[in-house]
Amino acid sequence: MKISATILEARTAGREARASRKRLGLVPTMGALHEGHLSLVRAAKIQCDVVAVSIFVNPTQFGPTEDLAKYPRQFERDCALLEEENVDILFAPSVDEMYKKGDPTWVTVEGLSDRLDGHSRPGHFRGVTTVVAKLFHVIGPDVAFFGQKDAAQVAVIRRMVRDLNFSVDIAVCPIVREPDGLAMSSRNAYLNPEERQRALVLQRSLRHVQEAFRAGEKHAARLITAAREVFGKEPQVRLDYFEIVDPNTLDPVEEITGNTLAAVAAYVGSTRLIDNVVLIP
Ligand code: PAJ
Repeated sequence: MKISATILEARTAGREARASRKRLGLVPTMGALHEGHLSLVRAAKIQCDVVAVSIFVNPTQFGPTEDLAKYPRQFERDCALLEEENVDILFAPSVDEMYKKGDPTWVTVEGLSDRLDGHSRPGHFRGVTTVVAKLFHVIGPDVAFFGQKDAAQVAVIRRMVRDLNFSVDIAVCPIVREPDGLAMSSRNAYLNPEERQRALVLQRSLRHVQEAFRAGEKHAARLITAAREVFGKEPQVRLDYFEIVDPNTLDPVEEITGNTLAAVAAYVGSTRLIDNVVLIP
């Protein structure tokens, strides 16, 4: 695995792959890798000839009171995991390599970036789209892999790719869960044993909504009420949002007629967790 810390090296590695007409896949991450990340790497290995992974804890997508400083960083372990997966290129730049102080240029998908997590975390998606646009420019992948776990992120990135004519395909991989159903996340490491148990309420609320939907309930408002009731029984967990939206526009849906995203975010202690399910009529 070739490890590049500079934009120049990563750009050269990407260019070499393209010059030899190899299909180049990119898996952008913030590190602290788990099976969710590795599922994207494995999908990339199947679909591409050369696989690049980026590890960069992107400061511009964290709010001033968020967990940037304490976000888990385990570079040696991550490298070993990626070596085992036979990843070809690892791009792991420093903050100074990626950003110059006061850079005035941003990539923003307006509207969509204020929905779901963007509503609770102002500026978050602007940071995501800016860094992902930079990663696409540096590496130049044919296809980039993202997780359905961050469903709003997928909608925002797809829209950016479409509106700015990036020549990259976006591949979306299913949510990988712990055996008890909790969606894998680097932030799960923050949870103490009681919080880890309480965190299951996210998955419980989604399952409850899915069952009600399958039993014939198509009204979003009633499904949201049902989800809130599940959270009512776990008062130590603070619900941030439970929304039922169009998966592409993230607009709220009243009556479910097509594939619809039920998405939840909640604070378990001080840890913010997200999860979702697609309701398919
Ligand atoms: P990060 O949270 O490290 O996630 C990297 C990728 O792994 C994302 O596409 C995310 O959706 C996916 N992922 C995380 N947990 C998953 C799970 N349990 N199952 C499936 N996929 C999962 O998302 C980011 O980093 C950043 O915003 C980034 C896109 C790298 C830009 O900085």
